[in-house]
Amino acid sequence: MIVVFIKWSESVSVHVEEIDNQHKKLLGLINWAHDIDWDKDKEKGNRILNELIEFARVHFTTEENYFAKCNYGGAEAHVAAHMGYIAKVLLLYRNFQNGTCSADDVLNFLKSWWEDHLIKMDHKYVENFRACGLK
Ligand SMILES: [Fe+2]
Ligand SMILES: [Fe+2]
Repeated sequence: MIVVFIKWSESVSVHVEEIDNQHKKLLGLINWAHDIDWDKDKEKGNRILNELIEFARVHFTTEENYFAKCNYGGAEAHVAAHMGYIAKVLLLYRNFQNGTCSADDVLNFLKSWWEDHLIKMDHKYVENFRACGLK
């Protein structure tokens, strides 16, 4: 049974269905990451870290394409934050391979990504995307 770590609520929505669905996928990965034993479940840990990288490839491309399409003024700082995520997940992946990545390293990062990036930074583009006609 998955113990829910982070919940979806309407206030999380950015009101673009494609992006909300991708964010829900991330939420699933975060809750899964919360549910496993990072010291024992090596295979699951690897799968989660791989999926966090794959998530970034798909999701950041989606957001960044819309930044270009909608001429979003906050794009530069936002893209830099996305690059920070990729660097951090690759570091966690490397550390996990050599046994120096703890559950807290992963969960603290994911929780702060959810709260500081998704809830705050992603929500800054909501008005721009809406005015641009995305939904
Ligand atoms: Fe996002
Ligand atoms: Fe983003």
